[in-house]
Formats: sequence, C-alpha cells, structure tokens
Amino acid sequence: MTEATTSSGGRPNLPMQGVYQPSRDEVLNLPRVHISSHPVMAHKMTALRDKNTQPPVFYRHVKEIGALLAYEATATLALESVAIETPMGPMIGERLAGGIGVTPILRAGLGLAEGFREVIPDAQIWHLGLRRDEQTLEAMEYYNQLPHRVDLQVCYAVDPMLATGGSAIDAINVLKRRAIPRLCYVGIIAAPYGLLKLSQTHPDIDIFIAALDESLNDVGYILPGLGDAGDRQFGTF
Ligand code: PRP
Ligand code: URA
Repeated sequence: MTEATTSSGGRPNLPMQGVYQPSRDEVLNLPRVHISSHPVMAHKMTALRDKNTQPPVFYRHVKEIGALLAYEATATLALESVAIETPMGPMIGERLAGGIGVTPILRAGLGLAEGFREVIPDAQIWHLGLRRDEQTLEAMEYYNQLPHRVDLQVCYAVDPMLATGGSAIDAINVLKRRAIPRLCYVGIIAAPYGLLKLSQTHPDIDIFIAALDESLNDVGYILPGLGDAGDRQFGTF
C-alpha cells in the first residue's frame, strides 16, 4: 500500500511529510549495525525488489535471504565443548551454548524466520504480532506467543522492513521484558530514519540488515524499497 491514505475527512494522510530524515551517509557507520556486503545477497536483493517477482518466488527469496542473514548474524554465537565419538574414536567437539530464539514480527517476518530455521532447525520460534497503523505509523500489538520460561543465549527479532522503526523498537521492548542475555534485530531493508531511531533507542542490540535504502516517502514506505513485504509474500494485494 504505497498510495497516500485518506483520513475520515477524505484528506490525504501524509504522516512523514515534512519530517526530517537523516541521509544514508549519516547512518552508514552506526555502532553495532551490520550491513551485508555479500555478492550473493546483492544478487538476491535485486530479484526480490523487482516488481515483476510474483509471491511464490518472492517468498522463496525472503527465505533464502533469511538464511544468509542468519549465517551472518550467528557468526559470534557462544560455543561449548562436548565429548563425542566419531567412527574413528573419541574427540572433543563444540556445540552452540544455550538456546536460540527467533521472533518473527507478524506477518512479514514469517518468511525470514523460515530462513533462520534452515540454518538453525532447533531454534525456538516466538511469534509476535505487530500491525502498523497506516494513519499514525504507530505499531500495535495483536498477538504474543512468547513463553515465560527463558533459556536462550540470544533472540533474533526478524522483520523484512525497518521503515520508521516503530515496529522494531516495540518488538525489542517486548523481548527486553523476558531478560534474554542478548538481543538482535534482523531485517532485509532499512530506511536511514528507522535505522537511526532503532539504534539510538536500543544501543545495546546488534542490527543486521541486507540493504540500507535512501528514505521514506510521505506515507512511510521505503524508497526504493520493495513495496509491501507482507502483501508481496502472501499475495494480498
Ligand atoms: C510492516 C513491516 C514492519 C513494519 C515496518 O508490517 O513488515 O513490521 O511495517 O514499519 P515501521 O518500521 O514503520 O514500523 P505491517 O504492520 O504492514 O504488517 P504486516 O507484516 O502484517 O504486513
Ligand atoms: N512496510 C513494508 O512492507 N514496506 C515498507 O516500505 C514499509 C513498511
């Protein structure tokens, strides 16, 4: 939904009109922000952004990009030693120390979470439903399946689009109530405005994205972006 929405009075509602937005250059070197530079990622991103890419293929690309992002975002996970027997004899191997959580922000985060599961099949999936009000651009929680018992070393909040940052900030706020030792946000495309807001509001998390775009339009959509990530995954145009 990239057209200007209308309020009940029929006047266009342009929540980002006139709002100051930082440039791409201003946010390129924020601490704890990791922007993928992998050529395979760049290749898949072009296919994802193309308006002719249809939902089944779009979903597959989101999943594959999710797997690539998972690989990058898990590079510093803690390991512990474990004694095993190979067919040739005993050895001390390593395994991930503690559980891994993935929180897909519904609904667009579902494809990314599937990509994470390809890399970490035994990750716990903690569903969180947030819907952005298109008039105010504020996120509202409508679904929460976060368990109360926490035994994770890290939890990744995953959502393809970081636009104003409202949804990501709220998701991290919700996860912080669970006292998880380490939190990360993983997204596909960020706008400088949302990236700066998320980084300033939650300076203690790592942020992994596949691409940093130019700006938000007057109704809060990312430019050049890819349109509506939820609609394009699930065919709800
Ligand atoms: C989209 C997107 C993010 C959010 C980003 O979700 O998937 O969750 O908007 O915008 P923000 O940074 O300004 O908060 P949406 O609320 O449209 O729901 P959907 O995933 O169900 O399509
Ligand atoms: N949500 C989307 O799906 N796309 C955008 O560009 C912004 C928010």
